Amino acid sequence: MYVWVLTNVQPHVISYLYTVQADQPMFAMEYLAGGTLSERMASAALGLTEAWMTFRQLASALRYVHDQGILHRDIKPNNILRTENGSRVVLADFGLATRLDQGEVCRDVCGTSHTTAPEVYRKKYGFPADIWSLGVTMMIAFGRITIPKGESWRMRDVREQGDNEASRRCNSWLAKVQHRAEQLPDDLSSVKRLVHTGPRDRWSAQELDDHLRTKSSRNQPSEQTSDGNSRDERPSPRIPQTKRPKHVRFKDKSESSKPTSDKVKGSGKRK
Ligand SMILES: Nc1ncnc2c1ncn2[C@@H]1O[C@H](COP(=O)(O)OP(=O)(O)OP(=O)(O)O)[C@@H](O)[C@H]1O
Ligand SMILES: [Mg+2]
Repeated sequence: MYVWVLTNVQPHVISYLYTVQADQPMFAMEYLAGGTLSERMASAALGLTEAWMTFRQLASALRYVHDQGILHRDIKPNNILRTENGSRVVLADFGLATRLDQGEVCRDVCGTSHTTAPEVYRKKYGFPADIWSLGVTMMIAFGRITIPKGESWRMRDVREQGDNEASRRCNSWLAKVQHRAEQLPDDLSSVKRLVHTGPRDRWSAQELDDHLRTKSSRNQPSEQTSDGNSRDERPSPRIPQTKRPKHVRFKDKSESSKPTSDKVKGSGKRK
């Protein structure tokens, strides 16, 4: 029997516990009592302070995840969990995550329709696909776009030629994201940098995190936005970016039983 704990690897990445007893693997994860970001937004729109806090925390989480060579592939409000008082948000649900080595690309179409990057449908994508998903998530969190109810599509039915209903719905949503992104005010330019159609034009998680840290340390605690709303950009606690996961093992069996390789799907990748 051994236990492998991936806990507090990064304050905004969910903690997992993995154990094998009598050859039975078991995962447990940290419980967050505040529900998901979508549930939070269903009750009332996020204030700017909360939206910026969410943005900064998710940027630091994604930087950590990408630094580990992990592509999440399903960033969306439903997969962001909150503590009860909402002061901490956590990137969760690594069910579609995959490890991606330098130079590798993913080829399998997966994720969630409205938050998935355009290049995923072209079956050639990498880390910028997560950046797009974070961008759309933050457009939702800042109240700049909403996902229309009952207008989803099956991702695998989307064709480049756009000659079926799934393709039409998908293209119309992607055009709406672009249009709304162009209308973002200057103080949300960092969100705009995440939803460029060309993956190479998007910021990396590292660039985004650096930008938000610099911005929050430069700004006054509270200032007016172009909307006339109050904005609070106090810096969040500094998070060490180079900290490696704490792997705590008891009665270790073998290195080949790392939880990441059991948990993540590695299919659909090509050099
Ligand atoms: N660690 C957790 N702490 C608290 N609640 C959680 C946790 N993980 C999941 N949940 C709750 O369970 C629900 C389902 O989560 P899960 O991510 O497994 O769903 P899913 O099948 O991926 O569907 P989707 O993410 O599309 O909503 C979440 O919406 C959330 O309310
Ligand atoms: Mg989920």
